[in-house]
Amino acid sequence: TTVEWEAASYDMGGHDTYMHKEIHEQADAVDRVLRGRIDDRFSTVHLGGLNLDAREARRIRRVKILGCGTSYHAGMIGAQMIEELARIPSDAEPASEFRYRNAVVDPDTLYIAVSQSGETYDVLAAVQELKRKGARVLGIVNVVGSAIAREADGGIYVHAGPEVCVVSTKCFTNTTVAFGLLALHLGRTRDLSVRDGKRIIEGLRKLPAQIAEMLEQEDEIKKLAEEYAQARSMLFIGRVRGYPVAREASLKLKEVSYIHAEAYPASELKHGPLALIEPALPTVAIVPDDDLLEKNRAAMEEIKARSGKILAVAHQPQEKADQTIVVPKNEDELDPILMGIPLQLLAYHTALALGRDIDKPRNLAKSVTVE
Ligand code: AGP
Repeated sequence: TTVEWEAASYDMGGHDTYMHKEIHEQADAVDRVLRGRIDDRFSTVHLGGLNLDAREARRIRRVKILGCGTSYHAGMIGAQMIEELARIPSDAEPASEFRYRNAVVDPDTLYIAVSQSGETYDVLAAVQELKRKGARVLGIVNVVGSAIAREADGGIYVHAGPEVCVVSTKCFTNTTVAFGLLALHLGRTRDLSVRDGKRIIEGLRKLPAQIAEMLEQEDEIKKLAEEYAQARSMLFIGRVRGYPVAREASLKLKEVSYIHAEAYPASELKHGPLALIEPALPTVAIVPDDDLLEKNRAAMEEIKARSGKILAVAHQPQEKADQTIVVPKNEDELDPILMGIPLQLLAYHTALALGRDIDKPRNLAKSVTVE
């Protein structure tokens, strides 16, 4: 399959940039990460390469996820999914920080290294250090046979296909889906009910069609992007499930358009960033239709009261926002997977409007294989 990928990988397939092509490949890519893995009989999934039997899975007391950049953000989403579905305390940390802080390595913690390329030096070095200390490390990786995939005790290939653009899009989405699969697997090995297992499986199966539906809004998102391209800086806010989406959207915009962007938990606004709000600083608010909807509406109200402009990404039009991008609703736990996609398009069209070098942003490399 690696050879097939190579032939397809450098063909732009009618798109002007790889970023655009890769954004549009996401429905198929998600279909691939799901393919052959769902087990309806036991309302769970099969993850062949995990190398973690049920007895070992039940002994895990914590999960620590390590990655850099976009992969770290996918890990933040993954940590929430694992904690929600498997009820195992989980968190994500930049691998680049973890490896320099002489972290306590605990034998009952499952470590997960996340990397598109499988070659990022900071992640590889963290994995090697963990292995040296006897930890169990799984890899969630895109490139088959890469250094991190080889070094890990087992893991999940995300099957996003080759990602050529320096800015990661489809691999981010597929990694979050892979985390959904892992969370479901760990959950069903522990205390997640059959009913909830079925609910999550149904949600996962809906994703490819929902992604295709989302991408149909490209023309409207392009218009919004042309408007926001005038901004000097943008604020991205989200709460719990929406926060990692805000972090990733802010990184995407920075990388590809060079507009300064900052992501903040919506809950922290009143502890400082409200001071920044004025008409010239637009806010993108991630507002899933979950139990925090009212809290998010209140945050938007705070911004409006200070004449801030708001673009909401939500499951229904938001009265407090100036504009809303409406995203198809999935199961609450899986919502972050879809909410990032319109923001990839927003970053893309903003960069296009500004004439940026989209596939090769200045100062960046696709994989950072040095310290
Ligand atoms: C993604 O848009 C970035 N270019 C960057 O943050 C990237 O995700 C990071 O360097 C990690 O790369 P990896 O997933 O190949 O390890």
